[in-house]
Amino acid sequence: MSASFSIHASTGSYEVRVAAGSLTETLAQQAHAYLLVDAFFRDTLGKALQQTFFLAAEEREKSLDRMPLLIEQMRAAGVHRRTVLTAIGGGVIQDIAAFASSVYMRGLRWAYVPTTVLAMVDSCIGGKSSINVGPYKNLVGTFHPPEQIWIDPAVAETLPRDQFASGLIEAAKICFCRGEEAFSTHMAAGPSTTMSTAALEAVIINSLQAKKYFIEIDEFDQKERLLLNFGHTFGHAIEGASHYAIPHGIAVGVGILCSLAFQRERGLSFTNMERIAIFEKHLREMVMSLPGIREHLAALSIDDVMERFASDKKHTGHQFTLILVNQAGEVVLEQIDKNKQTSQAVRHAIETTRESYTR
Ligand code: GLY
Repeated sequence: MSASFSIHASTGSYEVRVAAGSLTETLAQQAHAYLLVDAFFRDTLGKALQQTFFLAAEEREKSLDRMPLLIEQMRAAGVHRRTVLTAIGGGVIQDIAAFASSVYMRGLRWAYVPTTVLAMVDSCIGGKSSINVGPYKNLVGTFHPPEQIWIDPAVAETLPRDQFASGLIEAAKICFCRGEEAFSTHMAAGPSTTMSTAALEAVIINSLQAKKYFIEIDEFDQKERLLLNFGHTFGHAIEGASHYAIPHGIAVGVGILCSLAFQRERGLSFTNMERIAIFEKHLREMVMSLPGIREHLAALSIDDVMERFASDKKHTGHQFTLILVNQAGEVVLEQIDKNKQTSQAVRHAIETTRESYTR
């Protein structure tokens, strides 16, 4: 089951191809390209590739102050306006490649080969880059999609299995936000950390098709696309307060569970809502698959999580901006007044979610 489809963006359409076993052919086509590659692949791919910039796929690498060095290296290696840069790696490499391509000589074309489940099911499309500035995560960025995305789900066979959970949580979230059909297709594929490459391929295609809807209808994050931030305000706070011991996708899973708990604190009831029960059960299983998750959650300072939650850049002066499930089971954006009652509900939601894992 391979698939090819286009994403329509303001800068033109770009192509996505999902095909298990396609990496060798993709690399053969890149033999003379300029490549920006995760250093993890230095031994396996280094010999086959020529003009390659290897980068460590670490959060501190996608920092604005690292950009001048890369840009100088690109200039010294002869990258010019008509060069098409190809990036091979996960989300960190993607962010660096997208950002560098968008500013180098006022914009290069680029192509992308995602190598993590999270990048395959989610971040490879959408066009956003996010770069850290000093202590501020994802403070600057651009919209600059690649013109080709080649996905080989078989690459995931070599990944640590807990990396699957991070990606599968984001895929489940996208499909849940998209609606009944996308979500039931996702669950029917049997998402799990032990799933087959064929099943992962089906998950990738379904998740990207669901995300395609949001990024085409609202490319620049003004309305519908904002719903994909579901779980992210709680999630980013938990990820940061764990000092990144809890990876992004897992933190988003905990964040979605917190956001459902928050709604219950506010008096909503999701009893008899089968879709939500299935979603919660699946998220709990995915979160639990991370070794040490109980200890990481137990070690969180709730005050630190609260501070990070309150400083999310989506909030306004007087209101929290949150993506929540409403009483009809729909994912909606809500602005909620900042007051003592709301803060208590946020705190209780985080505490009860954490307790449900540690007891
Ligand atoms: N690059 C991630 C996104 O645009 O959604």
